[in-house]
Amino acid sequence: MELSLEMLEQESRKLDFNSTQRSELLKAVIHYSEEFLDHIEEIPVYQESPEALERLAELTFEEQARPIEDLLKYIGTAVDNTGINPAGSGHMGYVPGGGTFPTALGDFLAAITNRYAGIYYANPGAVMIEDQCIRWMAKLVGYPDLHAGNLSSGGSIATLTAITAARNFHKITPENVRNQVIYHTQQTHHCVLKAVRMAALDFAHIRRIPMNDEYQMDVAALAHQLDADLSQGLTPFLIVASAGTTDTGIIDPLEQIAALATRYNCWFHIDAAYGGFFALVPALKDRLSGLSKSDSIVLDPHKGLFLSYGTGAVLIKNRSAALQSQFYRANYMQDADGEHIILNPSDVSPELTKHFRGLRMWLSLHLTGIKPYRAALEEKLRLAQYFHASVSKLGYEVGPKPTLTVCLFRQSVGNLEGDNEINRRILNTILKSGKVFLSSTTLDGVFWLRICVMVFRTHKKNIDDLLDILQMNEQRIG
Ligand SMILES: Cc1ncc(COP(=O)(O)O)c(C=O)c1O
Repeated sequence: MELSLEMLEQESRKLDFNSTQRSELLKAVIHYSEEFLDHIEEIPVYQESPEALERLAELTFEEQARPIEDLLKYIGTAVDNTGINPAGSGHMGYVPGGGTFPTALGDFLAAITNRYAGIYYANPGAVMIEDQCIRWMAKLVGYPDLHAGNLSSGGSIATLTAITAARNFHKITPENVRNQVIYHTQQTHHCVLKAVRMAALDFAHIRRIPMNDEYQMDVAALAHQLDADLSQGLTPFLIVASAGTTDTGIIDPLEQIAALATRYNCWFHIDAAYGGFFALVPALKDRLSGLSKSDSIVLDPHKGLFLSYGTGAVLIKNRSAALQSQFYRANYMQDADGEHIILNPSDVSPELTKHFRGLRMWLSLHLTGIKPYRAALEEKLRLAQYFHASVSKLGYEVGPKPTLTVCLFRQSVGNLEGDNEINRRILNTILKSGKVFLSSTTLDGVFWLRICVMVFRTHKKNIDDLLDILQMNEQRIG
């Protein structure tokens, strides 16, 4: 049966919630989020619930509405009580994310007003807010005023933006790509290699440079490889260093690598997704001074600024390099053309329409000021050092003294198979506690347990909880 226009309007008006409906929905959602936050520490830091997932799988989209209370029950059981609880203080696996409250407020406002943050003309204020966040980060890492930058969904997309800028700036084409050389280490995050592949740069020679005992890029080996490649008639093109690797949290010797990048006319990219915001901490300022010498940097505010998932950032020193790879014009966009100092975010990123993610960061930094961020980062550094010293006293083998907030540790019975088994058992014991979530890694064939202290809610008590579990485990083994 064909519906009349009036009937269509009546039905479509259901998308425009009235004020009574809005306040009821808000009440339910705020109640849910308050309960969640008030009891966040009681939610196991890792859990499985196959029944809840089965129930969610059966929930189909229907023509008719469902009440918010029912939907919140599904979210509560199948989402917020399964898997990792990344906002919980016991989450120390991988590189943990954040989940600060102002992020939620910023997202709420951004979604309600639905301001368009991709083009200056569409919303100068929204674009200025993103620009202010970018400029603040650029100042932090020592970039000049005329840089380009962009807030992305995360570090991986930010990396893709940097790598494509490098490719276009160095005029890499299908004809010359096979002559180019890219340098990285085994510790480089896989998102860099993914970006290299997406940018069709995997046809280049990719050199994995050896590392020293601290898992840093060996600068002498890099210099040697650069010379060897030049003498073979190849073109060194891109050097990728890390400021905070996922496995070990090390920072490559950035200043020395930068000097080689300049000497050999290479684009120098730094993955500072994890470590970049530690430039806020005075004790690490010198170690991170080489950030300023790079051509591009990736930082992850959803790691180092503890924002909820969904915000990465790329900084590109040379504006025109950023524009060369992303700038486009289309007839239907002609009204948006105009003179302004602030770059259109869409001119330096693959995204056109984008989430107004600047608001969550801008609001977060203003609502508390920078001081608590600096303190939290310094606190996490000290907690990792405290754990390193304490777990070693318990008789565990430890990795290098933490540069950032990762600490590697393990038990050893003297043979690889036995070591793997015992450490897997320890990991399971920790996960079963529900108090601490850890992840493991393998370095040079050796199985390691690792912590990465990066949740803003993690404090000394959580480290002591982990030490207690490990001590009890020791007693059982002993
Ligand atoms: C060192 C490092 N670089 C890059 C990334 C990728 O960032 P994202 O997960 O935000 O895409 C990660 C992710 O955990 C990381 O730890």
